This record gives sequence, structure tokens and C-alpha cells, in this order.
Amino acid sequence: MSFSVAIDGPAASGKSTIAKELANGMGLVHIDTGAMYRAITYLCLKRGIDCQNIPQVNALLPEINIELTLDEKVFINGEDVTTAIRSSEVSDNVSYIAAIKEVRLFLVDLQREMTKNLSIVMDGRDIGTYVLPQAEIKIFMIASVEKRAMRRYLENQKMGRTGNYEEILSNLKKRDYIDSHRDFAPLKPAEDSIILDTSDLSIPEVVTACKKIISNKLGKEIV
Ligand code: DC
Repeated sequence: MSFSVAIDGPAASGKSTIAKELANGMGLVHIDTGAMYRAITYLCLKRGIDCQNIPQVNALLPEINIELTLDEKVFINGEDVTTAIRSSEVSDNVSYIAAIKEVRLFLVDLQREMTKNLSIVMDGRDIGTYVLPQAEIKIFMIASVEKRAMRRYLENQKMGRTGNYEEILSNLKKRDYIDSHRDFAPLKPAEDSIILDTSDLSIPEVVTACKKIISNKLGKEIV
């Protein structure tokens, strides 16, 4: 029997890292929906399209083809953008793209299609509320914005990317605001989600907590 795990939460709350670990440990397919919004943002920036110009962004949709591979690579129209979609320019603009209803409808179709007959763990902002409201397990991850900014800062340093702590903090605050105040499918916990505060937890501790939640929901112990 296939099942779905939906993990939602604000930027840098650890969703993708945890979703990846869970997927590897439990043999699930991981779908990082944020990467899809980022890929469209990347393409707009590359084409010189203003990410707040809704008609221009929408005009691009019919020619967009996004692929996520099992080894976590992201392609848009055949171009490998796995690294490029993590740039600060993309991070600064992605919330504008994600607030466009037509972009969301386009990606939600794709996201639902990707889950067919598979056991998956999908992370994003609206998975439990909108994309997969029937998901068996819904986890909403939170952490203080300062902790999230520090995590992102350390991750950037490790990857050799630029960006200082204050800039990252202000970008996260801006994205939190836009993501949770947009009209269509805003960031919010589903009523039947379990809230997990990861502020003071290590990655293995969060993975263990998630496995416990999944075991309880499925009514059987998982490794
Ligand atoms: O998880 P992330 O930081 O890579 O997501 C990038 C942006 O995409 C984020 O600011 C909000 C948006 N997003 C969204 O609106 N809905 C999703 N399901 C996933 C991401």
C-alpha cells in the first residue's frame, strides 16, 4: 500500500533535509516542491523577466518542462539547475513567483501527477492543505527565524556560497511574510497536521521524531 508524507513549514525549517533523510531511510521518493518554484524563478531571471510581472511570467508556463530526478537533481527545459536555483538572486525572487496563482496551479498538477502509485515524502508550504489534503501523514515544521537563518548561513558557508547572516535573516523574514500572506494556498498548518518545533533539535533528532509520528499514524513500527 502506498502512502504520502507531507512536510510543510517556513523557509529553512529543515524540511528538505529531513524529507531527504526520511526518503533514503524508508525507501520513499522525495519531491522537493520548493525546487520547482525556484526553477521557474531561475528561468525568469535568465530570460530577463521581472518576477513580479504576472502576465510575462504566465506567458512562459506553456514552454516549461521541469524534471526532478531520484538523485535529487533539478532540470528545467533540459538544463541542470540543481546548484543555480540556490543562488541568493533566486531566493530573493522566488516568493513573488510562488504567489502567482497560475504558476501554482501549473506546478500542483505536476506535483500530484508525480505521486501516482508511489509512496512519497513531499515538502513545501501547501502540501498538507492543498496539494495532497488526503496525505496520511502531515508534519508542519517550525523553528525560530534566527535559528533558521543561522542554519542557512552555515549551510551556505559549507557549500562555498556567499551571503551574510543579516541578509539571510532579512530574506527569510520577507519570504515568511509573503508566503503566509498570499491569497492562494498560503503557508499554514493543515488542521490535521502535527507541529514539530525543530529549533533545539539536531537533524537525527528531527528524523527520529518524524519516524515516531509516521509509525504512530501508520500503526506500525518503521525502521
Ligand atoms: O522550500 P524553499 O525555500 O526551497 O521554497 C522556495 C519558495 O517557494 C518559498 O519561498 C515558498 C515557495 N514554495 C511554495 O510557495 N509552495 C511550495 N509548495 C513550495 C515552495
